[in-house]
Amino acid sequence: MKAKQLKVKVKDIKKVNDNIFLLSISSAYLASQSRPGQFLHFKIHSTILRRPLSVHRVKGKEAHVLFKIRGKGTEILSRYKKGEILDVIGPLGNGFFLKKAAAMETTNILVAGGIGVAPLMFLAEKLRGEKLVLLGAKTKKEIVCELEFRRVGCKVSVATEDGSKGIKGTATELLRKTLMGSEAGKINIYACGPQEMLSQINNVIDSHPVLECQVSFEQFMGCGLGVCCGCTIETKHGYKKVCKDGPVFNIKDVW
Ligand SMILES: Cc1cc2nc3c(=O)[nH]c(=O)nc-3n(C[C@H](O)[C@H](O)[C@H](O)COP(=O)(O)OP(=O)(O)OC[C@H]3O[C@@H](n4cnc5c(N)ncnc54)[C@H](O)[C@@H]3O)c2cc1C
Ligand code: FES
Repeated sequence: MKAKQLKVKVKDIKKVNDNIFLLSISSAYLASQSRPGQFLHFKIHSTILRRPLSVHRVKGKEAHVLFKIRGKGTEILSRYKKGEILDVIGPLGNGFFLKKAAAMETTNILVAGGIGVAPLMFLAEKLRGEKLVLLGAKTKKEIVCELEFRRVGCKVSVATEDGSKGIKGTATELLRKTLMGSEAGKINIYACGPQEMLSQINNVIDSHPVLECQVSFEQFMGCGLGVCCGCTIETKHGYKKVCKDGPVFNIKDVW
């Protein structure tokens, strides 16, 4: 599963909502070699540093990326057209660890904060056992992929900060409520979102023991290859590079 630098063709690019886009690229290599939680490092016109984006899904010989416009790089990427060529390095990083043993007796809870939903779709497709997805966003318009998760057999609950859909609050509050009635030691959690959300999840699971909680970090990145130390985080086992040692970590190795 060696990362390669590739020139790939934009197969399609679709606007999902006001500022979220779904990009499909043609690459048999990336489609066959990527695992849930891994990312692709995109060279985008007029930017110096590459931008990391998670593999959202793979279909046949295509890899899909779901991204939100945050600044210059993602804005330019949203204006790429079908047939244009992108320079991409991937697949990069260590993805989610998929447990096989006893998978059918456990419940998998996938927690997404905002665009943190991006890597969780690919994960949901690969996980066995019961799957519950907790989607959190500022407002109803920012909730994406709800139907797609249901189509791959997940139950879905929604939280919005303004209460326009689902419960009023955050995905972490949904998680707290869900864990209250659940049996200890039967739950695996997989989460992606802002660091503040991940740290709150750590507090929540302290009072509700779970089997394991894996979290994917959205750290700023430079090289993406483990060379520049630009993405370092402090863990209980010393400093780790999100691009190479992560982006997925066991939450208890971090807090
Ligand atoms: C492993 C990994 C996977 C990611 N997967 C996805 C994904 O699937 N979809 C997606 O939309 N985004 C994802 N991101 C975040 C994405 O890389 C950034 O949004 C993107 O690089 C921003 O580039 P930009 O040029 O548009 O914004 P910039 O002009 O670089 O920044 C614009 C604003 O966004 C903030 N920002 C930029 N990068 C980050 C970041 N990494 N974390 C928090 N704030 C940031 C800056 O503080 C600034 O205020 C991922 C990040 C990592 C590390
Ligand atoms: S981005 Fe350079 S070491 Fe991680």
